[in-house]
Amino acid sequence: MSEHIDNLQHEIRRFPPSPEFAAQALATPELYARASADPEAFWAEQARELLHWDTDFTRTLDWTNAPFAKWFADGRLNVAYNCLDRHVEAGNGERVAFHWEGEPGDSRTITYAELTAEVKRAANMLTDLGIRSGDRVAVYLPMIPEAVVTMLAVARIGAVHSVIFGGFSADSIRSRVDDADAKLIITADGGWRKGRVAPLKPTVDAALAKEGEHSVGTVLVVRRGENEIDWVDGRDRWWHDEMAKADAEHTAQPFEAEQPLYILYTSGTTGKPKGILHTSGGYLTQAAFTHRYVFDLKPETDVFWCTADVGWVTGHSYVVYGPLANGATQVLYEGTPDTPHPGRWWELIEKYKVSIFYTAPTAIRSFMKVGRQVPDGFDLSSIRVLGSVGEPINPEAWVWYRDVIGAGTAPIVDTWWQTETGAIMVSALAGVTTTKPGSAQVAVPGISVDVLSDSGEHVGNGNGGLLVVSRPWPAMLRGIWGDPERFIETYWEKFDTPGTKNRRMYFAGDGARLDDDGDIWLLGRVDDVMNVSGHRLSTAEIESALVSHPIVAEAAVVGATDEATGQAVVAFVILRSDQEDAQTPEEANGILRAHVAEQIGAIARPRHVYIVTELPKTRSGKIMRRLLRDVAEGRTVGDTTTLADTSVMQIISDKLTGGV
Ligand code: WTA
Repeated sequence: MSEHIDNLQHEIRRFPPSPEFAAQALATPELYARASADPEAFWAEQARELLHWDTDFTRTLDWTNAPFAKWFADGRLNVAYNCLDRHVEAGNGERVAFHWEGEPGDSRTITYAELTAEVKRAANMLTDLGIRSGDRVAVYLPMIPEAVVTMLAVARIGAVHSVIFGGFSADSIRSRVDDADAKLIITADGGWRKGRVAPLKPTVDAALAKEGEHSVGTVLVVRRGENEIDWVDGRDRWWHDEMAKADAEHTAQPFEAEQPLYILYTSGTTGKPKGILHTSGGYLTQAAFTHRYVFDLKPETDVFWCTADVGWVTGHSYVVYGPLANGATQVLYEGTPDTPHPGRWWELIEKYKVSIFYTAPTAIRSFMKVGRQVPDGFDLSSIRVLGSVGEPINPEAWVWYRDVIGAGTAPIVDTWWQTETGAIMVSALAGVTTTKPGSAQVAVPGISVDVLSDSGEHVGNGNGGLLVVSRPWPAMLRGIWGDPERFIETYWEKFDTPGTKNRRMYFAGDGARLDDDGDIWLLGRVDDVMNVSGHRLSTAEIESALVSHPIVAEAAVVGATDEATGQAVVAFVILRSDQEDAQTPEEANGILRAHVAEQIGAIARPRHVYIVTELPKTRSGKIMRRLLRDVAEGRTVGDTTTLADTSVMQIISDKLTGGV
């Protein structure tokens, strides 16, 4: 980490917004002053301005049962109505909600009126299938319009969706379905990826075929891939058949502001993913507010494209809830960025005149590698704002993004947030902030963050420490599904001062540094969570997948720095003694990489599994991952004095340098 800090300290480039951009920007510096004077009053004002409430709230924040927050608790609203019907009622029904593009080149334009009609029908369909307010619905879909329709239809009837990213395995689906007690799974036969159909329904079938009883009564299947699938009579139903039977009219009922909206599973420091719970009114307020002011969204003229999959929180907040609450026009794309050609994304920007583009540093770095001649072949002049999310963006990638994609003029907003925070927390505001390549910079208006030392002291400018959120915020997670203790332990105990219940700090798990201006530079995770291509993975989860294989005795996983993906999964494995001669290290590497992909999903597949005879452990038996990271990154191994057996690292590094 210290090397990284040194690099960043030399970054002195500054990019103020142009006077023309600043003059038309929605946000003004005055927004910060207004918000910090009274954050609660500020959020109450935003909630009323940005959303429609069927019943106004009288109380903004209830923090008496900290850290379990309630925002706008006695207010009532319908999330889907806010994203759909009210735009139609306001005369904007003909506005395009989505320009959808399938990977093979098929496309569909969906207006707000059409999207509203489809969601109404889908809401009736869900009700016909027995789904009621509070029930959990699992979603395992490709990036097709039905994914958005599903999420909004579930929200419309007060049910709770749990979207599972399409790259996850049968095991991952099953553990999520079991944890949430989902009654229904909505999936597709398959979706298009890299020029072919990737099957989805077969993975759901495999998930439900696993041992033990499960809660799922119905599997609803969208026809997309046209691939062959098995059918379980009485359980499986086609989306199009059920939709055809459902009534077209549906009046949205208001729900309490704290009605659960969704659960989204994310990796933590233990082997078991956490079901992060988000609720309605506060979440939608902050998603809409940040989408509008961070990106300077003008819904009448902008075309917004967030490239995230709806299986991740970025897709929830900045493909579905924030943009639709704001009545934005968006691009939705099913496939991969380089299919069928490496300029596919830029072609879509040209085709739909995308003006605000939001993506991840890992994608930017992979485009950099191919070279600017690809984007230079397209007309990207519609772009006026660029966003980045998911991991720290290195200054070279930042400057390339601005120069090549943003014509050297578009402001870049580097947005720091998490599944848990629900919406953007730290970011520049387009048109207001003088940006610095590589820094996420400042808390958005109404949000309070700080950087603390391990013992809880403010570190002061020029120093590094741990990022915390120092006041409750509207889109904050309301808990971990079914595990209130873990919620408290994970996020609230680290900086809890006994006796000061109302001033608890949220521990984000990220290292950060304050520069001399007090701007924030994110330095990566400080726990055993890795960030691979902007996706969160837990070392413990991959280790437990590895030891579940019969040839493995022990496993240790680290996130090693990787030029393309930020971090890469590298595993060190001790084989069972009867297995040591059964396969070569290369064979074992192949078997175990495939095993992890099957257990968790392809995103978790290690870059390499090294077969070793020992793991470095402290005298108390704790694996010293720091040393393994040194080896994986090809560095001289650091201080080994706390190891029980100091020769271990020598054996491991000799073996790897000799054997790889
Ligand atoms: C990292 C994604 C640096 C961070 C929205 C965080 C970032 C984790 C940034 C959350 C950024 C996200 N700069 N790091 N702009 N954005 N991160 O839950 O480590 O998938 O804790 O949410 O990603 O990942 P998650």
